Amino acid sequence: MTAELSITQLKLRRSGREILDIDRFVLDSGEILAVIGPNGAGKSTLLQVLALLLVPDTGIIELNGEMIVNGNRLAARRKLAVVFQESLLLDTTVQKNIEIPLRIRGVGRTEAIRRTREWMARLGITHLSGRRARSLSGGESQRTSIARALAMQPEILLMDEPFSALDYPTRKSLLAELGDILHTTRMTTIFVTHDFSEIPALTRQVAVMFDGRIIKRGNIQDILGETAVSVRSWAPWDEDMEDGRGAG
Ligand SMILES: Nc1ncnc2c1ncn2[C@@H]1O[C@H](COP(=O)(O)OP(=O)(O)OP(=O)(O)O)[C@@H](O)[C@H]1O
Ligand SMILES: [Mg+2]
Repeated sequence: MTAELSITQLKLRRSGREILDIDRFVLDSGEILAVIGPNGAGKSTLLQVLALLLVPDTGIIELNGEMIVNGNRLAARRKLAVVFQESLLLDTTVQKNIEIPLRIRGVGRTEAIRRTREWMARLGITHLSGRRARSLSGGESQRTSIARALAMQPEILLMDEPFSALDYPTRKSLLAELGDILHTTRMTTIFVTHDFSEIPALTRQVAVMFDGRIIKRGNIQDILGETAVSVRSWAPWDEDMEDGRGAG
């Protein structure tokens, strides 16, 4: 399988402190990876580097085997969509927040409107389409950010605690739907979370960050053990694991 996104010998310092030190990190095409780790471990910083928004001090970033250098940074960024911890919405309506980025990426007007409507409906924010972003609640903003990212149909989706502000029913239904979407589109995805119960709905692959490094990576059960088992009911496709038929 081709490496969709990779970093090699990456180091990043901020205010004289080493924030990231990652020897090698590869995300295969279609892979979905949950990134966990304590506050300050460097998870958001890693996502910003992968989103090409933060330039490391040293290291190589490759997208589809092609090295990202200054010249092609912008073109590469268009293959990515991000949902950040604090949603960075434009000071305009919900609808425009989804539609404008599509237009900027060259999507035709009719198609942009169609996708905007589709994703507002899927995220349950159609009734907010005319509302200005700054008037939204935290959860409504998060839904708008997620709708905006998914409407882009990116090759790579990077999400930093995307569900943290969502109420339980929304979180549960969105996780199930997002799981379906990611598995059908085979969108390469990294998402950061502090809530382990969210992970099985989207993936079994987990990376643990600590002190700027990726210290573990592997199957959720190997890494989280019983925690993962106790939240199995979140994941529709994990049901076949219950009776031992599932892929281990
Ligand atoms: N602009 C900055 N200048 C100096 N240090 C920074 C800067 N931005 C982040 N850091 C530091 O880098 C480290 C990693 O931060 P980061 O936001 O990536 O952590 P995180 O794993 O996402 O944590 P959280 O779970 O709290 O979101 C922290 O110690 C943070 O204080
Ligand atoms: Mg963070």
